[in-house]
Amino acid sequence: MQQLYNRRILLGISGGIAAYKSAELVRTLKKAGADVRVVMTRSAMEFITPLTLQALSGHPVHHSLLDPEAEAGMGHIELAKWADLFLIAPASANLIARLSQGMGDDLLTTVFLATDAPICLAPAMNQAMWRDPITQENIAHLKAAHGDHLTLIGPAAGEQACGDTGLGRMSEPDTIVADVANCFETGLLAGVSVVVTAGPTKEAIDPVRYITNHSSGKMGYAIAEAARDAGARVTLISGPVALQAPERMECVRVRSALDMLAACEKTQDHCQIFIATAAVADYRPASQQEHKIKKHSDELSLTLIRNPDILSTMAAAEQPPFTVGFAAETQDVEHYARDKLTRKKLNMIVANDVSDRSIGFHSDDNAVKVFWGEDGRRDFELMNKRRLAVRLIELIAEKYQEEH
Ligand code: CTP
Repeated sequence: MQQLYNRRILLGISGGIAAYKSAELVRTLKKAGADVRVVMTRSAMEFITPLTLQALSGHPVHHSLLDPEAEAGMGHIELAKWADLFLIAPASANLIARLSQGMGDDLLTTVFLATDAPICLAPAMNQAMWRDPITQENIAHLKAAHGDHLTLIGPAAGEQACGDTGLGRMSEPDTIVADVANCFETGLLAGVSVVVTAGPTKEAIDPVRYITNHSSGKMGYAIAEAARDAGARVTLISGPVALQAPERMECVRVRSALDMLAACEKTQDHCQIFIATAAVADYRPASQQEHKIKKHSDELSLTLIRNPDILSTMAAAEQPPFTVGFAAETQDVEHYARDKLTRKKLNMIVANDVSDRSIGFHSDDNAVKVFWGEDGRRDFELMNKRRLAVRLIELIAEKYQEEH
């Protein structure tokens, strides 16, 4: 179940006898490598204790919307943003009714309203309650409102706690976990070779000093993971960052712009999509001192020379890949981004406004505008970089398929 490795799964538990299976669910998700946090409704706590789920998940369990201490730590908005996927299991008839009406009267329902993560819903109730036309209407309403974003898992058929037999039991934890894992595999880029550059480059001045740019690498790593989950064969070419190499892709670590260029050029014979998120230093010292520069004078001049443009080099190849650039702008975002799109002969450019401190660089969130062709444009509102990466890969895959 490698798809769940390092995934952030928020598990919502509502009140029902099936809540006893939630403990096993948390255990199975954790075993698959997921980071799990739990949100419970008040009635869920009648069936299973927060302490059990805290011990299994390794995190405090969230249950109160009106607890100032909890909200100060990780409130409903943070939880909603944190999740890569929101799994609600068991989802009782009452919870489904509240969700379908857009109610936000407890922590679980407010997180549901606030999240833009994909949602999995595993209903659990008596068979007659499941068959009831109002429950069916509520389910249809939720599906219509959320489209592909909502996956219904079960319910399964069989003997029920009340003695009835029929459709309504919560699916088994193994089945739920397998369906959740499938949500991360879209197949949109099945077999396509994708190269992603990420992080900053470091241009050495002497053995202890360097010139660099702000860049945490988070956006590029998230893009590489989203491409992998879409079925691509991914090569991530990364400058120095504090992030771990992601699983199931080739990760090439480099330092300078020249190293990064050399690593990218090596992929030219198979690269089909090239996504440049790296904050490459535009200039490097003309010469690198062999020994540490000493403080001999009050002034020191450095001669810098232009680094090659890696993205333009890839775009200028005889058979160029589908190229996607990133542009960090502080003003006239569309104008400057479109200028780079044309000048660098790119298929697409993703621009963000770095004058806004809440996004970009070291933040976990980002909001971007994407431009392509003569007048193609899509705006993505502020969201978690991992969610944004999934959306960007969907768009890149769509435009790539149109051209091939
Ligand atoms: N890029 C690159 N190699 C470089 C410089 C930039 O591959 N030597 C890529 C970046 O990864 C990014 C895009 O080009 O995808 C950014 O373009 P660039 O013109 O460098 O943007 P800015 O640095 O914002 O340019 P300017 O200073 O002109 O605004």
